[in-house]
Amino acid sequence: MSDIALTSDAAHLRQGSSIGQPLTRRDGPLKVTGAARYAADNHPDGMLFAVLAVSSIARGRVLGLDVAAAKAHPGVVEVMTSTNRPPLAGDPEAKDSPFMFRMEVLQNDLVRYPQQPIAVVIAKTLEAATEGAFLLTPRYEAQMPRVGLDGAEVFVPDSVGVGKPSAMQHGDVEAGLGAASCRMDATYDTPAQYHNAMEPHAIVASWNGDTLLLDTPSQGMAMAQARLATLFGIRPGDIHIRSPFLGGGFGSKGLVNGPQVLGILAARLVGRPVKLVLRREQMYGPVGHRAPTRQMIRMGTDAEGGFTAIANHVRTATSTYDDFIEPAGDVAHTLYATPALATSHEAVRLDTGTPMFMRAPGEASGSIALESAVDEMAEACGMDPLAFRLKNYAEVEPASGKPFSSKALRECYAQGAARFGWWERPVRPRQMRDADGLLVGWGMGTATFPALMFAGNARATLRADGTGLVETGAHDMGQGAWTALAQVAADGLGLPLDRLEFRSGTSDLPDAGIAGGSAHMATVSTAIHKAGGEVIARLAELAMGDERSPLFGAGNMGVIARGGRLHRLDDEGRSETYAEILVRAGLSEIEGNGTGTADPAAQNAFAMHAHGAVFVEVKVDPEFGQIRATRVVGAFAAGRVINPRMVRSQYYGGMIWGVSFALHEHAVTDRRSGRIMNANLAEYHVPVNADVPSLEAILVEEHDPHVNPLGIKGVGEISITGTAGAVANAVWHATGVRVRRFPITLEALI
Ligand code: MOS
Repeated sequence: MSDIALTSDAAHLRQGSSIGQPLTRRDGPLKVTGAARYAADNHPDGMLFAVLAVSSIARGRVLGLDVAAAKAHPGVVEVMTSTNRPPLAGDPEAKDSPFMFRMEVLQNDLVRYPQQPIAVVIAKTLEAATEGAFLLTPRYEAQMPRVGLDGAEVFVPDSVGVGKPSAMQHGDVEAGLGAASCRMDATYDTPAQYHNAMEPHAIVASWNGDTLLLDTPSQGMAMAQARLATLFGIRPGDIHIRSPFLGGGFGSKGLVNGPQVLGILAARLVGRPVKLVLRREQMYGPVGHRAPTRQMIRMGTDAEGGFTAIANHVRTATSTYDDFIEPAGDVAHTLYATPALATSHEAVRLDTGTPMFMRAPGEASGSIALESAVDEMAEACGMDPLAFRLKNYAEVEPASGKPFSSKALRECYAQGAARFGWWERPVRPRQMRDADGLLVGWGMGTATFPALMFAGNARATLRADGTGLVETGAHDMGQGAWTALAQVAADGLGLPLDRLEFRSGTSDLPDAGIAGGSAHMATVSTAIHKAGGEVIARLAELAMGDERSPLFGAGNMGVIARGGRLHRLDDEGRSETYAEILVRAGLSEIEGNGTGTADPAAQNAFAMHAHGAVFVEVKVDPEFGQIRATRVVGAFAAGRVINPRMVRSQYYGGMIWGVSFALHEHAVTDRRSGRIMNANLAEYHVPVNADVPSLEAILVEEHDPHVNPLGIKGVGEISITGTAGAVANAVWHATGVRVRRFPITLEALI
C-alpha cells in the first residue's frame, strides 16, 4: 500500500507506504548474473578499439612519435595525434564553472602531468591498439617535475571547492589561544589519493551525422551534454548519453574528462564507432584525484575544557593549469562550539593531473585532521574524548551563527557509545590487550556532511489502466538510487510499487542533475514527489468537479491518494480508482512535472548538515606494528530514511573508505620523475574483505522540516568523515603513539 496526502507536507506520508521499506536493489539480479550492461560492454556494428598512449614524463614536450611504426601494424587503422586530430568548436581549456576540467585532448605537444594522453591508436582489436600504442615510442624534452607540498611556489587561491571563500574568520583566534589554559599545535599530512572505481572510465562513441550516441558512465549526464555540445559545436539534445550502470564513481565520473572527448574525436576521425577504455594506471592522471594536504591546526581550551579557539591553516596542491582546491579546512566551520574560529587555504602548483571531487572532498581530509586534533586536545585536558566533544557541542553552527535545520548528533553520540560500550574505555593509552597479546585501542570521531541539493527534474505519468510511469535521468553508481527513487515515485503517485514503472539512466529523460555532493536523493526525490503531486492534483480536480464521482464536492485538500485510488478525507470509504477517473474523463493519461532544488529562504535561515558519531576498535601487534581495525560502530542522523537497507549500505561503504583513508590509501610519487609509483590496485591499497572490520550502522531518527519537503539529507559521503579520525585515535589509544601523517602504516609505530 502506498498513500500520500494532497498537501506539500510529506509528514502526512503514512505508515505502510513504499518509503521506509528495506527493499533490495531492483538492479541487483542483473548485476550478480552479469546481465547488467556497463558502458564498455557495448559493441555497435563496425566498432573499432582505441587505446591511449600516455606520457611517461611529468613535465615537458613530446618531440616525436613513431606514427609510421604504429601504422605499419596490420591491425592498426589510424593514429590520432595533435597534428591530425579533428578540430573542436570549443576550447578544451575554457572554464566558466568549477564543474569543468581543463582538458588535454591533443591540442599541442605539451606534457603537464604523467599519464597525460599524447596519442590515440585506433585498431581492429584491443590487442592491436595496445601494441600500436607501444610502438609509438615517444621522444620527449623533459623538465624537472614540481613534486610535493614544498616543491613549488605557494599561492592563495581565490576560492576553494566549488566557489567557497578560501579563508574565513570568526572571533579573535590569537586572543582565544592567548587566553587558553591549555593549547595544542600540530601538523597533519594527508596523501594524494585516487578514486579507483572498480569500472574504469570508458566510452563507446558513435556519430550519426551531427548526432552523437555515447555509452559512458556519468554522474552528471546533462552537464556532460552541455559541455560536449560546446566542444563539438552541436546541440545538447543531439547528444544521447546512456549510463544505466556505473561501477563506482566517487566523484571521478562527475565531469567530462579528456579521455571521453578523445574517444569521441577518434570516432569522428575514423568515421566509425570507437570504444576507449582506460587502463588502471591511466586512471591516475586525467580523471582527477584527491590532492594531498598539510593541515596546521591550533586549538585552545579554558580550564573546563571549553574551546577558546580553533584554527586550521591548510596547504594543498593543484595542477599547473587548472585550479580545484581541496577545501579541507572548512569542516571546522560546523562541528564544535568556539568563540574564535579561523580557517585558511594556500596551495602549490604541481606537475600532476588536476585534483577533483573525491569521496567527501574537503570533509574527508579535513575531518581526519580535525578529529585527531580534537582527540589530542581532549587528552591534553585529561578528558574522555566523547565527554570533551559533548562539552563543546555546537547548538548553532559556529561559523555562521545559524541554527541547524535539525541536528540529532547528541542522540548519535549516545546510541553509538552505548552500542560500542565506549564508557568502559580507559582514558590513558596502551591499557588494553586481547587474549593474543595484541594492543587494543578505542577511538571515536564526529561525522558531518552538508545537506546539499542541486537542481533536478522528473516527469510523472498516470495511465488510464491505473499504472504509473516516473522518468528522470538519475544516476545509480551502485548506491541503490533507482530502488530508493522508485519508492519515492510510487508514493508520489499513490501507487503500489508493482504498478509503477521507473525509467532512468539516459540523458533523453528529464535532467536529474548531478549524482554528487551526497545530494542526489534529496534533489531527485523532491522532483519526483512534486511531479507526482501535480498528477494527483489534476486527477483530484477531475474527480471533485464531476458529479458522477463519489469524490464530487470533496473540496480543496479533501482527498487522499492511496493504493491507486482517491479517497475522501472526510469519509475514506468513498473512493474511486485512478482508472475510473481517467476513463470517465476520456483521458489516456495525465502528466505532471517537478523540479527539485534547494529552498533559498530555508538555506538562508538554517545550517543544514547530516551528523554522526563513529566508534572504532583497532588491534596493533606490539612487535610488528601491524594494525587492524576490528570493529566500527557508526550512528548517523540524516533526516528521512527512504530505504534503510540502502542507507545502511551507504554508511558501511563510507566507513570502509574511512578505514581506507586512515590505514591504506596513498599514491606515492617518485620525486625525480614525478610519476606515481603505485598506479595499480596491487600497490595502491584499498581495503579487501580481510581489512574490513565488523561494521554496524545505527540509523538515528531525525525529522527535518526545512531541508526539503521529504526531509531527506544525503548519506553518500558522511561516514568517511568521523571514521578516518576515529581509526587514528584508536591507534593512539592502543599504542600511545600519535601518528599525524596518513595513512598510518606499521613503520610509524615501531
Ligand atoms: Mo562525490 S566526490 O560528491 O561524487
